[in-house]
Amino acid sequence: MQLSQNGQRLAGKVALVTGIGGGIGKGCALLFARQGATVVGTDINAAAAQITVDLALDEGLAFESIHPVDLTKEAAVKELVAQAAAVHGGFDILVNAAAYCDFAPIEALDYETQWKPSIVGELDIVFLACQAAWPQLIARGGGSIINFASANARQVLRGSPALVHCATKGGVLSMTLQLAMEGGPHGIRANTISPGLVATEATRHLVNDPARLTELNDKHMLGRIGQPEDIAWAAVFLASDEAGWVTGADFPIDGGASKW
Ligand SMILES: NC(=O)c1ccc[n+]([C@@H]2O[C@H](COP(=O)([O-])OP(=O)(O)OC[C@H]3O[C@@H](n4cnc5c(N)ncnc54)[C@H](O)[C@@H]3O)[C@@H](O)[C@H]2O)c1
Repeated sequence: MQLSQNGQRLAGKVALVTGIGGGIGKGCALLFARQGATVVGTDINAAAAQITVDLALDEGLAFESIHPVDLTKEAAVKELVAQAAAVHGGFDILVNAAAYCDFAPIEALDYETQWKPSIVGELDIVFLACQAAWPQLIARGGGSIINFASANARQVLRGSPALVHCATKGGVLSMTLQLAMEGGPHGIRANTISPGLVATEATRHLVNDPARLTELNDKHMLGRIGQPEDIAWAAVFLASDEAGWVTGADFPIDGGASKW
């Protein structure tokens, strides 16, 4: 079934979306704009971000991007948030899809060059954006923060060298619960999505191997890995007023993969 992506579920809202050069950030940013939001994107990869901007502008969407920005640098994140807020008088939605992580088993995971950059690239990066955006969301009378955890926040996948990823995603999951508690009095909702395997740049090396892809499809109850849009639809719900009583929740959007 071909689902129309055009609608008004986010009409009147401004969204800051990180990682628009990658799969899930791009999928969220485009679907948000197709659902009526004004989107400000960002990414460290200027060329990749620009491809997303061009796609959006070709469709006539309300979409811009501030890039390149290294979202692991506190001052750069503050500057980004100030710029985005200045242009649009604030924003209502923060989607933290930018991420970097190394995958290696404990014997091979180098502390300085792999562990530390991965903790910064998947955990600090979320904290910094949430902290910088917090006063803007308060000033707006509330808003929605959407972070990405993973099945790896709770469980291990046999054979997967996801040691530091487990640590960062456990951190994102529990940090988001705390944000939900601290944000409640301000009308700020904070939730996580835990995607199953989604076809993006980050998973290209797995997905492009046909034999491996069949194996991966079989790990999902619905018989296929995910596409960025599968995640983006859940994010639209969480960003919208439809989710007005949803906070501190984690949504496994994973074709059933985490349940068998
Ligand atoms: N793809 C999956 O199967 C999957 C599964 C579970 C969880 N997730 C999570 O979903 C989120 C998005 O994943 P994805 O697959 O779309 O990733 P991706 O690698 O396709 O995209 C990530 C984007 O973040 C950008 N980025 C990295 N470091 C940055 C920095 N310091 N500053 C600014 N931008 C930076 C990259 O340039 C890239 O465009 C991540 O948190 C990931 O862990 C993904």
